[in-house]
Amino acid sequence: MASSRFDGKVAIVTGGARGIGRAIVEAFAREGARVGIGHSGRSEDAAQEIIRTVGKDRAVSLPGDVADAKAVKAILDRTISTFGRIDILVNNAGICPFRDVLDVTVEEFDRVQAVNTRSIFLMSQGAARFMKDHGGGVIVNVTSISGERFTDPQQLAYCTSKAAANMLTRGLAVTLAPYNIRVNAVLPGTIPTDINEDVLARPGVADAIIKQTPLKCLGECGDIASATLFLASDEAKWITGTLMVVDGGVIA
Ligand SMILES: NC(=O)c1ccc[n+]([C@@H]2O[C@H](COP(=O)([O-])OP(=O)(O)OC[C@H]3O[C@@H](n4cnc5c(N)ncnc54)[C@H](O)[C@@H]3O)[C@@H](O)[C@H]2O)c1
Repeated sequence: MASSRFDGKVAIVTGGARGIGRAIVEAFAREGARVGIGHSGRSEDAAQEIIRTVGKDRAVSLPGDVADAKAVKAILDRTISTFGRIDILVNNAGICPFRDVLDVTVEEFDRVQAVNTRSIFLMSQGAARFMKDHGGGVIVNVTSISGERFTDPQQLAYCTSKAAANMLTRGLAVTLAPYNIRVNAVLPGTIPTDINEDVLARPGVADAIIKQTPLKCLGECGDIASATLFLASDEAKWITGTLMVVDGGVIA
């Protein structure tokens, strides 16, 4: 049988039970990796459905809040006890509440930073401690074009968190390079998932985004999965610290 790009590799994908994360999990599984499916705890049924599809020796459910240090340790420990290693970490979990700046509370603002940014620090630090003693590894952060360009008055907390996530990507790339750990980010444009279902359902919103998009369509979860797998693969062995925009040309 022909070998696949990720044969023998173990990948963790946070927020892996739904949306973009699910497409990444399924792509890794198709290409030979064993996968840890991170999720907040509310997506156990969805995680189990993926496990039934890819095979129960090839995937494990990893419930836990990625903003919480103890939960992160449990996610990493469970992966190592199940599969023996961590080669690839995809920090994809995220939240995007829509709130006017005059209404957003301190708690809401802090929660967005914790889930979208602190989680990347916690997961990456924990995974890197393992990877450094086992020959290296790869980290891919799913951030957003909203970290590079302020996209919506109701997304102040979100854009701020994604800008920090992009800087974390660059900083981690430089500081983890001596341990043979590459770190890159994929910056999606608009892709219909649970995160933006309500907003895209408002009259005219999807059409307006498509109009601003040079390639004249919204993205698909698989578009982000393809870019993520490329950055996680050996084809990208000299790429670290890159922010790869996948947005149909919006930022351009
Ligand atoms: N869909 C888009 O248009 C778009 C655009 C740019 C960036 N993104 C980013 O892509 C990533 C995936 O989003 P999506 O569109 O698939 O949305 P989604 O809502 O379908 O997925 C988000 C996932 O994150 C998980 N999650 C949320 N909070 C968590 C927590 N505290 N602990 C663990 N898991 C948690 C959820 O369980 C869910 O599986 C997010 O980081 C998002 O910001 C999405």
